Amino acid sequence: MAADLVIKGGWVVTPDATFRGGVAISNEVIVAIGDDASLPDGKEVIDVKGKHILPGLFDGHVHFREPGMTHKEDFNSGSTAAVCGGITTVVDMPNTVPPTADAEQVKVKRELGEAKSLVDFGITGVVVQTNTKDILPMAAAGAIGFKIFFGETIGNLPFPDDGMCLEAFDYIAQSKLPLGIHAENRQIMAYNTNKLKAEGKNEARYWEASRPDICEAESVHHAIFFAETFGTKLHVFHMSSKQAAYMVRDAKARGMRITAETGPHYLLREPNDMDNVGSLLKMNPPVRTKDHGEVLWQGLREGFVDSIATDHSPHTLEEKGSDIYGKLTKPAIWDCISGFCGVETGVPLILTEVNKGRLTLNQYVKVASENPAKIWQVYPKKGAIRLGSDGDITVVDMEKEGTIDVNKLHSKNKPSPWHGWKVKGMPVLTVVRGHVQMRDGEPCGKAIGKALKPIV
Ligand code: DOR
Ligand code: ZN
Repeated sequence: MAADLVIKGGWVVTPDATFRGGVAISNEVIVAIGDDASLPDGKEVIDVKGKHILPGLFDGHVHFREPGMTHKEDFNSGSTAAVCGGITTVVDMPNTVPPTADAEQVKVKRELGEAKSLVDFGITGVVVQTNTKDILPMAAAGAIGFKIFFGETIGNLPFPDDGMCLEAFDYIAQSKLPLGIHAENRQIMAYNTNKLKAEGKNEARYWEASRPDICEAESVHHAIFFAETFGTKLHVFHMSSKQAAYMVRDAKARGMRITAETGPHYLLREPNDMDNVGSLLKMNPPVRTKDHGEVLWQGLREGFVDSIATDHSPHTLEEKGSDIYGKLTKPAIWDCISGFCGVETGVPLILTEVNKGRLTLNQYVKVASENPAKIWQVYPKKGAIRLGSDGDITVVDMEKEGTIDVNKLHSKNKPSPWHGWKVKGMPVLTVVRGHVQMRDGEPCGKAIGKALKPIV
């Protein structure tokens, strides 16, 4: 019997092997894998002509801004950008308006996503000082995990104090879902910010100094202590510093269930870049010097940094206090909002580094597909080219060259620090559960996205 979709004529890439051939998908799942001759006929057949067939790439950290901030982004625009960037699955963050802080809001968000998203998505619930009793109901309503914002950032959500962390970490452990942390120490950043302001240091390049590495490391240390005490699965979101990376490495070595993600900006950018792109590169946590980036690359290769996620966080240019090319329109970096677009640019940026030999393509699919699916407990339904896994595929052309043009991004708002970056290695086909959602850079699908259900 003919399969629904056959993708053939390529190189199938898994974390362990690369082999000639392709995959067949029927009823939204992978039904055959192998050389071209072994594949069934297809109702639709796509010959990818020697390009690489990867398991669907998984961005475990995006802010699609629904509900309440749809002037910045929504599930439809964000997921369109995602498929154009080669992404088949995302995990959405809870700092919306209202925040995703109870079972009802988890349900609201699932319904919005299922009505509007082109990719499959996970919903995270936020834990603050006052909602620990909502943790288990949020899990029952379909949250994929939880987030605590230890650092002040967009939404300015309060975090549980040390007493309330006893409850929060315990309930989250009971839920068996991971707790992702935005790890920054508020007292350190407040102290440093006040000092820099008093010294009149208002330029963009001082952003990192206001929230230095110790700020992240102290917060990771704090969360590891509670997580280890209660047996909570801990995930460090957007890890930026070598100290934090070494702490994660040590905690893994003693058997703790801890994972960490980093992002393209932490791997490729430095604080001094803000002299040129200003607030477009303003992010919490901030980008740091190369010595940190080198340890994060090492972590990706050796396994103590688990995944790459973009922290896609769009804002309007007005909020960014910048023009689209990085000229500040506000007097001080403190007045500009943090966050920038990422979901559409992350894959080509890192494939470019794969072409330079910094990671193999096999290592890349591990950190960009298999590991995020494991962190969020949806593996091997997601993150694998295996019989019975969801038919999620990203085809990439490792020879294709381009220049990032922020004006062509598919997000509602396009502030990004990557304008003009030359890339080699680009996604050319995105397939979500057998549905072709992007061809040759153009979106071509429908809102077939479904909420992920973790396997715990
Ligand atoms: O810079 C940031 N912006 N960091 C975060 O953690 C949140 C994000 C946002 O929501 O814009
Ligand atoms: Zn964050």
